[in-house]
This record gives sequence, structure tokens and C-alpha cells, in this order.
Amino acid sequence: MADSSQPVPPAPADVEATQAISGGQKIDPWNVSGEVGEDGKVKAIDYQKLTNEFGTSLIDDKLLERWEKVTGHKPHRFMRRQIVFSHRDLSLILDRYEKNEPFYLYTGRGPSSDSMHVGHTQVFDFVKWLQDVLDVPLIIMLTDDEKFLFSEKRTVEEVIGYSKTNAMDIIAIGFDPKKTFIFSDFEYVGGAFYRNIVRFSKRVTYNTAKAIFGFDGSSNIGKIHFASIQGATAFATSFPHIFGADEKRVAGIPCLIPCAIDQDPYFRLTRDAAYGLRYAKPSLIHMRFLDALQGPGSKMSASDANSAIFLSDTAKQIKTKINKYAFSGGQETLEEHRELGGNPDVDVAYQYLQFMMDDDEELARLNREYRSGELLTGEMKNICIEHLQKYVTGFQERRAKVTEDVVNEFMATRPLEWAGNPKVPRADLVVPVKAEGGEQKEGGEAGDGKLSKNAQKKLLKEQKLAQQKAEKEAAKAATQAST
Ligand code: TRP
Repeated sequence: MADSSQPVPPAPADVEATQAISGGQKIDPWNVSGEVGEDGKVKAIDYQKLTNEFGTSLIDDKLLERWEKVTGHKPHRFMRRQIVFSHRDLSLILDRYEKNEPFYLYTGRGPSSDSMHVGHTQVFDFVKWLQDVLDVPLIIMLTDDEKFLFSEKRTVEEVIGYSKTNAMDIIAIGFDPKKTFIFSDFEYVGGAFYRNIVRFSKRVTYNTAKAIFGFDGSSNIGKIHFASIQGATAFATSFPHIFGADEKRVAGIPCLIPCAIDQDPYFRLTRDAAYGLRYAKPSLIHMRFLDALQGPGSKMSASDANSAIFLSDTAKQIKTKINKYAFSGGQETLEEHRELGGNPDVDVAYQYLQFMMDDDEELARLNREYRSGELLTGEMKNICIEHLQKYVTGFQERRAKVTEDVVNEFMATRPLEWAGNPKVPRADLVVPVKAEGGEQKEGGEAGDGKLSKNAQKKLLKEQKLAQQKAEKEAAKAATQAST
């Protein structure tokens, strides 16, 4: 039960890693760069090393086989190619899917500017695929407060504006409005969510925050507290309009968090807090970054126009950027290239194709022919340009259809509809789960873990009430804002 006044077992050792500084590479929520070699050049990020350092698990063939068996879907190309390379407790989510027990997907974005690039959309593309395959609720958090707290310059009004435009970009990925709730912190913090934020914050000391995130005496206290907000979104009880208001029942519903690996420190902390609060621990799957045009070892950056392909770029801009800036793994001259062959591992055009080209055989052919010198850098770049142009044009077409009304629909506090595993009937939204350490027997179970008719009715009523309350609060906030 979510009550921090109760004695709680000691936390397991999830929170032992300090900042990830492994052999010179630096990956944390604010820095992403590879090790600097003796030649002064930045090396590619060593993801295997990162996995060891963070204490996460690699996604191996066995897990992928199980994924396919349980979901009936071939793993996404990101999973097949170790782009989604690491996880925490993914198998627990598969266990739940197998029995059609509820869980949700949670991901987010820090709205730092209006210009999103293709590096930002990769995780969301993957999340959309997960939502299509798993048919579960998805919660997308926009951390406008974070982007205010962590910037010298940005104003509150500015980041709230970015939340809106970024939500439009995210919606254009193609999420299903019936199953997706998008919220901005400045709008949604309050009620059940705030109760969890405060419970979370009570369980984290300054020393722990310092050790995990590297804060010091000069860090503003908002930064130190922020982890509680990002963390509390991983608790189903923060969303009564989706899961119902009975905290005891909902406490056992976990989420699966697809995120870039730099966000792991937040969720390491969250898993510990969940344990203490007797909430289900979130599971995670980690994705690696899309390289900057300049090459592996850094990621695309919104503040450097020549490092990234933006979602607003024209076909011509894409072509020019790739031809001019994309780091090549080819040789200096045509003769040398034919003789020695190129290196696709550092070739940016090939790296982007790994993300975008679905056909495994075609990709393997490009790899082979590039290495042998048969395929030239210019040819690789042309194939990459075509894929990128198609990707960005498709995005722009969908984006043009996202209106203000559509945004309001996604961001309204309302119940969601989903079915989960089609092979297993889902008696109801919430299957009561025994949280770790606590016994949780409440009236309403039909003995088989499913809810009785009455309990179902009660739950629906609770959801409706929570929704009405949320709507009333929103209306009240709106009138207050306008007076
Ligand atoms: N902190 C993230 C950022 O700056 C945003 C975020 C919040 C997030 N919750 C998340 C990202 C969950 C991935 C998963 O972009």
C-alpha cells in the first residue's frame, strides 16, 4: 500500500550506480558523449560497457524468441539490430501480457524547443509499434517544468508553448487517441499524481540525488526534486481516470518504459521508491541514440542545425545535409575504396539506414557491398537520403492534420480503451495483484484473480467519478486562469 508511514523493508541495491563515467564516456540525462581516444577523436559510445555500468541486462536472442512467442509478432527491427539493446525486467511484462494482466507504456519528452529532429522521433516510432502490438494504454509525459528548471534562459511561458507544439509533433507519429494520454507537468500536477510525487520525494535523500545525478550545493532545489515528478508517472495510481481510484488495487499495475539509455538513472531511483511504496516496479527497455551527422560518439542536437535532420527540413535540405555533413566510413579516393572497402560501423548514412530500413536482407547486402568496396559512399548516401526524405515527408503530411482540437483530445483526462492480449479474455481493467511484501485482499475478487461483476461495476463508477472530478478541476483552473 502506498503509505510511507508504515515500516518498509530495506531497499534492494538498485541505486548503487553513481554517474556513468565509464572509461571516459559520459552518459547521463544531460550529457551524451563517447570516450575521447588518444588521437583526440571521440569514439563511438560503447553500449555494452554502459550496460555493465548501469547494471541493466542485454536483450538477447532468448528474450527475443520469447517476445515473438508471447506476442505473436516478430521483434521490431530496433530489437533485431540491438538498437533497443538493454532492459530491466522486460520478462515480467511478457508474463503479464501472457495472462492479459494490465500494464501500461510510459514514455516522455522534455520540450526544450520547437524544432524536433529525427533523433527525437525514433523512440516514439518504437513506442507506437509497441502500442499497436500490445494494445495497452500509453502515457506520454511532457516535462515542461524540467526544461524550465534546467535552463538559465527559458521562461515558463516558453516551455508551456513548446509542450503544445511538441505534443502536435508527437501525435503526428500516429498514436491511437483512444489509448493515449499526453500530459504536460504544468497542467497535470495535482490530485493523485501530486500525492505520489510527494510520497516519492519523501523516500529520496539529498545524498542519493547527488550521487545519482551529480548535483551540488549550487544546484537549485527544483532540479533536486524533479526526479520525483518523472518517477511518479511510473505509478498507475497517478492516473485514476485511466485505472480507477482504488489505490490498493491499482498499486500493482506496472508500466514498461521505453526510453533512451540516458534516462535510466531516473528509473533506477524510481524502482527503489516503488519498492518502498509497495507499488509495482517499472520495467524498462533502453534504446541507443541516433548518431549526429558528424558521426558516432555524439547524438543529434536541436541547438546545432548541422548535426541533425529536422522534422521541418525540406527534401532539398536533407539531401544537402547528408551529402555535406554525414560522416563517411568510406576511403579517401575511389581507387582506395574499391581496393580497401568502407566501414559501415562508423558510416552515418549506413547507421541511419539501420534505423529506417526494415528489410534485413537488403541492409545486409549494403553492409557486405560497402565493406567489399563494391558500394560507394555516394551510393550509400543516396539510399539514405531517399529513406530520410520519405520519412520526413510522411511525418509532415500527418503533422499538417494535427489541429488544436486533436491536441485537446489527447490531453484530456478521460478513460482509455484497450484490450491487451487478444488470445486471452480480459475480465476487467484491473486484476488485483499482490504488491511485494504487502497482502492485498480486498472484496471483489472472484477467486480466480478476475473481478466479479459487482467489482467491475464499482470500478467503472470510480473511473467515471475520477474523470468528472478531473474535468471539474480543469474547468475551475480555466476560469481562474482567465480572471
Ligand atoms: N526527461 C526526459 C527528457 O528530457 C523526458 C521524460 C520524462 C522521459 N519521462 C520520460 C523520457 C520517460 C523517456 C521516458 O527528454
